[in-house]
Parts: sequence; C-alpha cells; structure tokens
Amino acid sequence: DWTMESFIDLEIAKIRETVGDKKVLLALSGGVDSSVVGVLLQKAIGDQLTCIFVDHGLLRKNEADEVMESLVGKFGLNIIKVDAQKRFLDKLTGVSDPEQKRKIIGNEFIYVFDDEAAKLDGIEFLAQGTLYTDVIESGTETAKVIKSHHNVGGLPEDMTFQLIEPLNTLFKDEVRALGTELGMPDSIVWRQPFPGPGLGIRVLGEVSEDKLEIVRESDAILREEIANAGLDRDIWQYFTVLPGIRSVGVTGDNRTYDYTIGIRAITSVDGMTADFARIDWDLLQKISVRIVNEVPHVNRVVYDITSKPPATVEWE
Ligand code: XMP
Repeated sequence: DWTMESFIDLEIAKIRETVGDKKVLLALSGGVDSSVVGVLLQKAIGDQLTCIFVDHGLLRKNEADEVMESLVGKFGLNIIKVDAQKRFLDKLTGVSDPEQKRKIIGNEFIYVFDDEAAKLDGIEFLAQGTLYTDVIESGTETAKVIKSHHNVGGLPEDMTFQLIEPLNTLFKDEVRALGTELGMPDSIVWRQPFPGPGLGIRVLGEVSEDKLEIVRESDAILREEIANAGLDRDIWQYFTVLPGIRSVGVTGDNRTYDYTIGIRAITSVDGMTADFARIDWDLLQKISVRIVNEVPHVNRVVYDITSKPPATVEWE
C-alpha cells in the first residue's frame, strides 16, 4: 500500500544511502519541482545541501523574496542567492529576437551558476527536479526545446557531478501532493508554470528595465485578481505581456500615446495544447481598469482569445 508518507521515508533513506557524508548542490528556480527537491533533501541530509538561486531580474514581482522567506525562513534551506540582474540585462541589451534572447538567458544562467558552484568545495552530487514526464518525453521536440532553456538544462562540460533525481518516478500532481505532505505552502505547491527565461520573453523584442517593470506590475495585478476570484488552480497559466505597440488613448482632457498590455490566460493539461480561459467579463473589466489606473504608461488592455495551436502559450 503506497502512500506519500511511505514514499518520503523511503526516498529519504535512499538519499542518505547514496549521498553518505558528501555534499549536494541544487539549482533552485522557485518553481514547484526544484523547491520540493530542496525541502526533501533538507529533510534527508540537512546542511550537506547547498542551493543556488539565481535572480536574473526576470522574475515576477516579489518572487525572489517569497522564495527566500519561505524556503530559508520556514524550511531552513541553505540558499546562496545570486543577484545577477545587471549581468543579464547587459547581455540582453540590443537583442530582440526571441530565440536569441532565450539562448543568452540560458547561457548566462549556466555561467552564473558555474561561477558560484566553482566557489564551493567538495560538491559531489547535483540534485535535479526531473519528473517522470521529463524522462518519458525527453525525446520530443518541445521537451528538448524547453529543456535546453530550462534552468539546469545544460551544464558546463567540465562539471562532473553525480545526478540525484528524487522526483523522476512522479507525475506533477504527485509532486504537488508530496510538497503538501512535506508541509510546504500552497503558494509554492500550486505555483503556475513559469518559463526559465521569465519576463524576458514577455517583454516582446528588446528588454529594458522600464518595460520589465510594466510587465511585472500588470502581472502582479492580474495574479492578485485571479487569486481573489478563486481561479488560481483552474487556470493553468495566466500572465501579461508587453507587445511594445503604443496607441492613442484619453485620460481626463488629455490625449495619451502609451503601451498596450496583453492578458494571456489558458486552460491546459500539459501545456502542449491549450485553450484560452473563459474568464468572466466583469472580472476582466476589473483587471483592465486596475492595470490602466495603476501601471504608468499603459492606456489599453487586450485579452488573447487564441488557442494553442495555432498560437503558442507565450507570445515569444
Ligand atoms: P509555448 O509558448 O511553447 O509554451 O506554447 C508551452 C509551455 O512552455 C513554457 N515555455 C518555456 N519554459 N523555457 C521554459 O522553461 C522556455 O524557453 C519556454 N518557452 C515556453 C510556457 O510557459 C508554457 O508553460
């Protein structure tokens, strides 16, 4: 009789046996999978685990602080937070092609991670939040593309770690159940999927701090309203994008010429196909009014009503 409790006991025993008194490194993204791996390893081997959390400046509003508060504060994880915002933004300056941006962000992530890992002594294991679905889908094109840009998708060749993948027999819903059983908060366990390149692919074209700020603030409003409406578990992904077009509007007696924000909200089972979420008009109106009122330089909000295919989930 398989239970999550017995899975935890078994897995902890297995990790202890594999690791012994050696040290383990984990790249923490703040997503469900790597966070669950972190908490599980912390329970198994305590301070033999070191986590590296790279803040690339493309995270959502308050995300870095929330990750640190919850995983360091509540679970006592040993996390090295790297503030690499400037490094990433510098590299992205002048670049507007989506695939080029992905490549730059992915590579820079590896360089930053590599720099930090090089400062640590005696690490023999690298932990990863690989799921069963990653294992069975690793041959498909989409998975490969996603993997190649995802946090620890490609590691420097001169790093010789042994891999630990404690989630590689689990599906996503089982990972969430495991997180809950480990006492982790809903804010992590039910976190929506978030791409490795983050807001870098939600500012369309060239990324700047000003544009990131507009996406970050509008996205925070959207997330708050979706949560208040109790829809955060029903909608697979929901976020805002800044297409970079400007249009004419009017505020009071003044003509404005400002940015448009796009809202993307989809229902999906696995992200491979998706349908736009049928969000209630009144809720959409409330979100639109708040974004235009609260986010400087936005005078228009549009809702994306395209399915995948033919559109993708992200706009880049
Ligand atoms: P698309 O836009 O391809 O997105 O329909 C499908 C799912 O994948 C996520 N996505 C990414 N995740 N790196 C990632 O780690 C990426 O470059 C990337 N591009 C898209 C997207 O958020 C959605 O969940």
